[in-house]
Amino acid sequence: MPDINRCYNIDELREAARKSLPKVMYDYIEGGAEDGTTLKRNMDAFKDYQFVPRVLRDVENIDLSTTVQGVASSMPLICAPTGMSRMFHYQGEEAVAKAAELAGIPYSLSTVATRSIEDVASYTTGPKFFQIYAWRNHELVSEFIRRCRDSGYDCLYLAVDLAALGNREDDLRNGHGRPLEQAIRTALGGLRHPAWFYRFLTSGKMTLANMVEHLPHGGEAMKTLHKVNEQFDATVSWERAKSIRDQWEGPFILKGIQCVEDARRAVEIGATGIVLSNHGGRQLDGAPSAMDLLPAVVDAVGPDVEVLIDGGVRRGADVIKAIALGAKACLIGRPYLYGLAAGGQAGVERSLQLLRSEMERVMKLIGCPSIADLDRSYLSKLERW
Ligand code: FNR
Repeated sequence: MPDINRCYNIDELREAARKSLPKVMYDYIEGGAEDGTTLKRNMDAFKDYQFVPRVLRDVENIDLSTTVQGVASSMPLICAPTGMSRMFHYQGEEAVAKAAELAGIPYSLSTVATRSIEDVASYTTGPKFFQIYAWRNHELVSEFIRRCRDSGYDCLYLAVDLAALGNREDDLRNGHGRPLEQAIRTALGGLRHPAWFYRFLTSGKMTLANMVEHLPHGGEAMKTLHKVNEQFDATVSWERAKSIRDQWEGPFILKGIQCVEDARRAVEIGATGIVLSNHGGRQLDGAPSAMDLLPAVVDAVGPDVEVLIDGGVRRGADVIKAIALGAKACLIGRPYLYGLAAGGQAGVERSLQLLRSEMERVMKLIGCPSIADLDRSYLSKLERW
């Protein structure tokens, strides 16, 4: 097993994850749609900004704490919803939820998770957000909302960027959607990664835990994911989004907003937050990065709606740049999944610690003691020609 304490940044955790996982699993985490243009732009967009540091200020104590959708967070970071986490490490969502609680930040559970809404509520008393889709089966969506209410979830996201499934060609090559071929490839890859394979075989059946009773084969993830994909509904409208919003009295976020006009409409249907997101470059190749949209969206929606972003955050400096441009917080997906794959809960903790210490150092070096004091004067945009 790689020594996660010798990983000094997220990219080294990525490499440790690559060594720990069969190719089928690693590619699923890492992959972007088609040519990967958006995947790459997500990371590059942060580099288009440089800091305007101030010196000779008292930066002995740095305060990264904030609130997101009414819940306290020790830093402006959230673990994003990601499906099927037990594919990457047998501890799966449990490890991520516990690491997020220890770090004092919100955890987000995906509809297509391998642990249920209720399981996660039993693992952590920390802030919990749940991500739903506007699926064809309206009753199932309402059931998820009721269960979140009963289990004390703090906030719902509605993911709105799945009118079609992204074209991730590595996944197609690896047999996704062809359960038998995928099982063979997984087994062959597992033989080369015996530590992962042993746990995969012995840690209990991996199910789509939120909907086991609604699926054949006892909800076994690899056998039924393609059935779940049939639930994605290309006719979904703003009216349907509003009807989902109206079923939930708490904070409600639209995740996957990708232009100013839709950000305004999200506010009109009663969203309390939006996530500017292209799904980590996994859906539409050629979609804009959240950083490219952020200033215009923040200006358009005004102060009453929290604007969150995700995609491409790999350094604490990236988070600080986003906050300076007006984001309330950043979500991360791959950075904690790398940690999970490389070292279970300890690996997730490592990824969060690395990002926290990078944020603290950047805040000292730019002369800003508190997240609340960050603004656009701390950044300048590099001109390209
Ligand atoms: C995701 N993402 C995602 N989003 C969502 O709303 N529901 C989901 O089930 C998933 N599943 C998922 C799986 C994997 C393996 C990845 C990498 C991502 C998208 C996720 O919430 C987030 O938008 C991106 O991960 C952000 O980009 P970075 O941080 O991975 O660059």
